Parts: sequence; C-alpha cells; structure tokens
Amino acid sequence: MDFNTLVSKALEAREKAYAPYSKFKVGAAVFTDEKIYTGCNIENASYGATNCAERTAIFKAVSEGHTVINAIAIVGVENDYTYPCGICRQVIAEFAAKDIKIILGKNNGEYIVKTLDEILPGAFTKEDLQK
Ligand code: THU
Repeated sequence: MDFNTLVSKALEAREKAYAPYSKFKVGAAVFTDEKIYTGCNIENASYGATNCAERTAIFKAVSEGHTVINAIAIVGVENDYTYPCGICRQVIAEFAAKDIKIILGKNNGEYIVKTLDEILPGAFTKEDLQK
C-alpha cells in the first residue's frame, strides 16, 4: 500500500470529523487485504460516547468482513503528528500484527512510520487468553 495515498485518504476523512466540543479533528484510513476504509472522530454531548477516528475506520472495515488491518494512517492536529490514544492502540492490536505500519501524517502530507510494537509494547492480545 502506498503510504502517501493512505495519508491523503485520512486527510479527506478528517474533513468529516464531528468535533463540536473539542474542535480537535482527526481522520484515519486503514488498508485491509484489499480495500481502504476511512473514518473520523465522532463526538457526543455525553463526552464519553465519543468515538475516535481510528476506531470508526477499523469498525467500518470489520463490519464489512475485513478483520485484518495491514496499515493505518492517522492525521489529527494540523502541523504535528497525532498518535493514537490508548483505546485505539488496543483496538489496532486486535486486528493487526505487531509489526503493522502506523503512519502518522501532517497536513502537508509529511509522515512518520511507527509499528504497533513500538507504541504498545507488551500488548494484551487474544493469545494471552489461551494461556
Ligand atoms: N481522538 C481521535 O479521534 N483519535 C485519537 O487517537 C485521539 C483522540 C479524538 C477524540 C476526540 O473527539 C478528540 O480527538 C479530542 O480528544
């Protein structure tokens, strides 16, 4: 998957962010085995009901039958990199390998690449349930 394409899809998705409370808009794009799914953050007057952009994108993919995420791009704050929150890191861990590329993009299209293992070392996963 071309990382530039994934970042531009995440930027497009950010346009749809529903963030009237925080005003912090986030977009995400996940690449499954064959398709890109995008998502934005969706806030709620009951703040705890908010859904992050990453989870919106992943849940769209999973609900369409794609349970393997091969890469994810995230764009949030305009001129810096926005890392996924803890809950989203855990959700990424459910549907991706430890070495999945997590692409953090900025407005101008620049990006850096991290792996899940780097940002969520020692993740609790379904394998732990078998022990
Ligand atoms: N947010 C995301 O969409 N993804 C993250 O990983 C970090 C936080 C959203 C949630 C909320 O709408 C806003 O950013 C401020 O926390």
